[in-house]
Amino acid sequence: MTGRMVTHVDSTTGIVDAILAGAGREVAGLPIPESYRGVTVHADEVEMFAGVPTSRKDPRQSLHLDQVRTPELGPGEALIAVMASSINFNTVWTSIFEPLPTFAFLKRYGRTSSLAARHDQPFQVVGSDLSGVVLRVGAGVSLWKPGDEVVAHCLDVSLESADGHDDTLLDPQQRIWGYETNYGGLGELALVRANQLMPKAAHLTWEEAASPGLVHSTAYRQIVSRNGAQMKQGDVVLIWGAAGGLGSFATQLVLRGGGVPVCVVSSAAKADACRAMGAELVIDRSAEGYQFWTDEHTDNPKEWKRFGARIRDLTGGDDPDIVFEHPGRETFGASVFVARRGGTIVTCASTSGYTHQYDNRHLWMHLKKIVGSHFANYREAWEANRLISKGWIHPTLSTVYSLDEAGQATYDVHRNVHQGKVGVRCLAPRDGLGVRDHELRERHLDAINRFRL
Ligand SMILES: NC(=O)c1ccc[n+]([C@@H]2O[C@H](COP(=O)([O-])OP(=O)(O)OC[C@H]3O[C@@H](n4cnc5c(N)ncnc54)[C@H](OP(=O)(O)O)[C@@H]3O)[C@@H](O)[C@H]2O)c1
Repeated sequence: MTGRMVTHVDSTTGIVDAILAGAGREVAGLPIPESYRGVTVHADEVEMFAGVPTSRKDPRQSLHLDQVRTPELGPGEALIAVMASSINFNTVWTSIFEPLPTFAFLKRYGRTSSLAARHDQPFQVVGSDLSGVVLRVGAGVSLWKPGDEVVAHCLDVSLESADGHDDTLLDPQQRIWGYETNYGGLGELALVRANQLMPKAAHLTWEEAASPGLVHSTAYRQIVSRNGAQMKQGDVVLIWGAAGGLGSFATQLVLRGGGVPVCVVSSAAKADACRAMGAELVIDRSAEGYQFWTDEHTDNPKEWKRFGARIRDLTGGDDPDIVFEHPGRETFGASVFVARRGGTIVTCASTSGYTHQYDNRHLWMHLKKIVGSHFANYREAWEANRLISKGWIHPTLSTVYSLDEAGQATYDVHRNVHQGKVGVRCLAPRDGLGVRDHELRERHLDAINRFRL
């Protein structure tokens, strides 16, 4: 039995009705459906884009909406009725099978225990964000109960190894849920560890609440945490892709923490989005035509200098204390160059290529640091979620798609035609549901809707 394509038992309807009617703890008595609809990639299709350039690989062809068998609930886990999710770039990578098919992760994980073997399937339900309601908890879970309204961060770790007990990201068995595991957030149900759960912000709708998790927590660790750049008041922070997923939260975190964001974007509309968040210093990289490479192998220091001069122009002479990096190969040489003496380049990704090239003289002679960062530990994700719940940092949701349009939603992110975050309704029948604190919402409504198209 593959777990895919089983007979459809449409009993999530009862769950949705109960949640919409405010069932609360009573959801514990509802039957769990044998199967549910989830957005999947298929192991027998990993070669479908062979020979196609990255930019032309189309997630709409590789992502499917399948009926999948509901996984058995293990100790320490929770089964969630997913009201909404969001698209992250990791689903772009999974859907175009780059840099490698994620089924290799599932196989490796599946070998670790009989419980983990559930994840090794010929399909993968993708997605690393959710908002929803706890339906069941596994043995040993005491902090969360059926009926709790939650969001989930995406770090899947059992903490069996000693290595992760200072910082969970150092655990050799840490995985990104919905990317390196199965049964992710882009489905009607999802399987998570209970230590991924956090309270849903009461003033947000389901789709708003589902959207910040992965990128906001990642940006929090990179900029604020002692595991990242530890920004202090007055720091100048250069933010690549400042109107994208990560960047729109990096910009807010810098502003909230008393720093000075220098936002880099590629269109006038995205520049406006940065200004709407309160940023004053914005560089439109398309309009200003930076060419950091003269050809595929040769970088162009003259353009680093022109870019650095533009930053000084905007800041009144200051170089960035922190560079928030994720585009990778295309920008990394410039990032190392423009960081101030003793500054920090904090990187969590390599969207444009993971073999970076930079002039090391600028790093060692000026005592700069490159810090690698990856997602966030539970504490960091919790702190980031608290900022959302307080209404201090806001979602940056621009568009919301239905579950059967998840391919199109992922396509938009792959083509970089989106702004902020792209949301996906899962069980939520329409936008706008799930708000519990109307007064707090009213106070921040303009900020919550800044990115809406
Ligand atoms: N390690 C982790 O835990 C972690 C977590 C989250 C994301 N990531 C990775 O981080 C990357 C960004 O994620 P995201 O969610 O922010 O994606 P996103 O929503 O697509 O935003 C990325 C932004 O980067 C800018 N950009 C893209 N290519 C660029 C280039 N060649 N040069 C300069 N700017 C470029 C674009 O902005 P403009 O076109 O406006 O300049 C884009 O809006 C992805 O590779 C993702 O996989 C890693």
